[in-house]
Amino acid sequence: MAEVEKSPAFGLSTFTSDERDMMKKAILVLSIVPVLAFLGGGLCLQEAAGSNGTVGVEVCKGCHEDHFKTYMISTHSKKSIPGSPASQEGCESCHGPGAAHVEKSGEGGVGIFIFSKKLADAKAKSAKCLECHSEQKDLTFWDIARHKIEGVSCDNCHTVHSGTRMNLKAPQPDLCNFCHKSIRSQQNRTSHHPIREGKMKCTDCHEHHGGFGATKIKASSVNELCYQCHAEKRGPFMWSHPPVDENCLTCHVSHGSNHNKLLSSRVPQLCRNCHDYVRHPSTPTTRFETFQGPTPSNKMFARSCLNCHGNIHGSNGPSTRGKTFVR
Ligand code: HEC
Ligand code: HEC
Ligand code: HEC
Ligand code: HEC
Ligand code: HEC
Ligand code: HEC
Ligand code: HEC
Ligand code: HEC
Ligand code: HEC
Ligand code: HEC
Repeated sequence: MAEVEKSPAFGLSTFTSDERDMMKKAILVLSIVPVLAFLGGGLCLQEAAGSNGTVGVEVCKGCHEDHFKTYMISTHSKKSIPGSPASQEGCESCHGPGAAHVEKSGEGGVGIFIFSKKLADAKAKSAKCLECHSEQKDLTFWDIARHKIEGVSCDNCHTVHSGTRMNLKAPQPDLCNFCHKSIRSQQNRTSHHPIREGKMKCTDCHEHHGGFGATKIKASSVNELCYQCHAEKRGPFMWSHPPVDENCLTCHVSHGSNHNKLLSSRVPQLCRNCHDYVRHPSTPTTRFETFQGPTPSNKMFARSCLNCHGNIHGSNGPSTRGKTFVR
C-alpha cells in the first residue's frame, strides 16, 4: 500500500498570505462599511441582490480584491455551462448565496461556504463543484473513486483561484507526489518511467477521478494499459511466453526499479523464480546451479540468460530458435 499523507494543510498553506491580507482589509472594511451604509442607505446592495440571497460578484470584489483577481484569471470567470442555473452566480456559484454574509460585513466569515476550513466536509466541498461538473464524462465515476472514499476532495488538487492549467494546485507529478511519497521515491530509482522528466504523467495511466480498472488504471487490465504504449509486446507471436500474456507486472514494476528495464528482480534470479531446472543443449537436464553455457561464467555474465534468450516477450522465429526465444 502506498504511504499516503492526507494533509489538510495542503489546502490551507496556499492561502495563508491571502488570509493575512484579508484580515487587514477586514479591519479597514469594517470601519468603512457603516459609513457607506449610512450614505447609501444600503440601496446599492439591495439593487445587486438576487431573489435567492445572492449579491453578485461586484459586491464580493469590494472586500475580497485578491480573490476577485485570481477568480478573474481562472476558467470559471470566462466560461459557463449552458443550462446550469449556477453559471451566472459568480463567486456565489461555489461559496453559496452571500447576502447574509455581507449583511454582517463578513464578520468572522459567517454565512458563507469556506473551502479551506479545517473541518469542512470533503463531500460537501466536492458537492459544490459537482453541481456543475457531475455530468462531465471525466467525472462519471467519481462516486466510486478511491480518492473520494478516502476523503480527498476536488479542492485538494484544484484551486479555482489561479490561472494555472486545469486550475491545478501544482503541476504533475508534484501534485500527486505531495501525498504519494512512496511513489515519489520509486520514481527516483535508476530505471523508471520518464515521469519526472515530464515525458509522461501519472494520469496517463491512472483514473484519478475514479474508474473501474484495478488500482484505477486507465484500462481493463494491466496488460491492456501497457499495450497502449508498448504495442509491439502484444504480438501475436508464434511462440509466446505465458507470463507475458498473463501480466507484465510478473516481471516488471510500474513506477521505478533499481534493476534494469523496470524489472522486479535481477536476471537470472527473475527467471529462476519459475525455471529452476533447465535443460540446455550442451548439458541435457542440467540443474540451473550447475549450468554452464559455452563459457563457465555465462549464467551470470552480462545479460545472463538474455545473452541467448533475447526475445523474452515472444518470438516469431523458426521453431529451432523461436520456441525457446533464442535470437
Ligand atoms: C463588507 C465586506 C465583505 C463583503 C462584501 C464580502 N465579504 Fe467575505 N468576508 C469579509 C470579512 C471581513 C471576512 C472575514 C475574514 C476573516 O475572518 O479572515 C470574510 C470572509 C469570507 C470568506 C472566508 C474566508 C476565510 O478565510 O475564512 C469567504 C469564502 C468569503 N468571505 C467570501 C465572500 C463572497 C463570495 C462574497 C460575495 C458574495 C463576500 N465574501 C463578500 C468581508 C466581506
Ligand atoms: C468555481 C468555484 C469558485 C468560485 C466561482 C469562487 N471560488 Fe473562492 N474558493 C473556491 C475554492 C475551491 C477555494 C479554496 C481554494 C484552495 O483551497 O486553493 C476558494 C477560496 C476562497 C477564499 C478563501 C477562503 C476559502 O474558502 O478557502 C475566499 C475569500 C474566496 N474563495 C472568495 C471568492 C470570491 C470573492 C470569489 C468571486 C470573485 C470566488 N471566491 C469565486 C472556489 C470558488
Ligand atoms: C457554476 C458552475 C461551476 C461550478 C460550481 C464549478 N465549475 Fe468548474 N467549470 C465550469 C465551467 C463552465 C468550466 C469550463 C468548461 C469548459 O471549458 O468546457 C469549468 C472548468 C473547470 C475545470 C477545467 C479548467 C480548465 O482550465 O480547462 C476544472 C479543473 C474545474 N472546472 C474544477 C472545478 C472545481 C474544483 C470546482 C469546485 C471548487 C468547480 N469547478 C465548480 C463551471 C463550474
Ligand atoms: C487527486 C487529484 C484530483 C482530484 C481529487 C480531483 N481532480 Fe480534477 N483533475 C486533476 C488533474 C491532474 C486533472 C488534469 C488531467 C490532465 O492533465 O489530463 C484534472 C482535470 C479536471 C477537469 C478537466 C477535465 C477535462 O478533461 O477537461 C475537471 C472539470 C475536473 N478535474 C474537475 C474535478 C472535480 C469537480 C473534482 C471533485 C469532484 C476533481 N476534479 C477532483 C486532479 C484531481
Ligand atoms: C490530498 C492527497 C492526495 C493527492 C494530492 C493525490 N492522492 Fe492519490 N490517494 C490519496 C489517498 C488518501 C489514497 C487512498 C490510500 C491508498 O490507496 O493508499 C489515494 C489513492 C490513490 C491511488 C490508488 C487507488 C486504488 O484504487 O488503490 C492512485 C492510483 C492514486 N491515488 C493516484 C493519484 C494521482 C495520479 C494523483 C495526482 C493526480 C493523486 N493520487 C493525488 C491521496 C491523494
Ligand atoms: C506507466 C503507467 C503508470 C504511471 C505513469 C504511473 N502509474 Fe501508478 N500504477 C501503475 C500500475 C500498473 C499500478 C498497479 C500496480 C499493481 O497492481 O501492483 C499502479 C499503482 C499505483 C498506486 C497504488 C499501488 C501502490 O503501489 O501503492 C498508486 C498510489 C499509484 N500507482 C500512484 C501513481 C502516481 C502518483 C504516479 C505519478 C507520479 C503514477 N502512479 C504513475 C501504472 C502507472
Ligand atoms: C502512456 C504510455 C506508457 C504506458 C501506458 C506504459 N509505458 Fe512503459 N514506457 C513509456 C515510455 C515513454 C518509456 C521510456 C521509453 C524511452 O525512454 O525510450 C517507457 C519505458 C518502459 C520500459 C523500459 C524502462 C527502461 O529503464 O528502459 C519498460 C520495461 C516499460 N516501459 C514497461 C511498461 C509496463 C510493464 C507498462 C504497463 C504497466 C508500461 N510500460 C506502460 C510509456 C508507457
Ligand atoms: C518473463 C518476464 C517478463 C514479462 C512477463 C514481461 N517482460 Fe518486459 N522485459 C523482460 C526482460 C528480462 C527485459 C529486459 C530485456 C533486455 O534487457 O533485453 C524486458 C524489457 C522490456 C522493455 C524494454 C526493452 C524492450 O524490449 O523494449 C519493455 C518496454 C517491456 N519489457 C515491456 C513489457 C510489457 C509491456 C510486458 C507485458 C506485455 C512485459 N514486458 C512482460 C521480462 C519480462
Ligand atoms: C512467472 C514465471 C516465469 C518467469 C519469471 C519466467 N518464465 Fe519462462 N516460462 C514460463 C512458463 C510457464 C513457460 C512455458 C513452459 C512450458 O511450456 O513448458 C516458460 C517458457 C520459457 C521458455 C521456453 C521453454 C520451452 O520449453 O519452450 C524459455 C526459453 C523461457 N521460458 C525462458 C525464460 C527466461 C530467460 C526468463 C527470465 C528472463 C523467464 N523464462 C522467466 C514461466 C516463467
Ligand atoms: C549460451 C546460451 C544460453 C544461455 C546463456 C541460456 N540459455 Fe537457455 N537455452 C539455450 C538454447 C540454445 C536452448 C534450446 C535448447 C533446445 O532446443 O534443446 C535453451 C533452452 C532453454 C529452456 C527450455 C528448456 C527445455 O526444457 O526445453 C529454458 C527454460 C531455458 N533455456 C532457460 C534459461 C535460463 C533461465 C537461463 C539463464 C539462467 C538460460 N536459459 C541461459 C541457450 C541458452
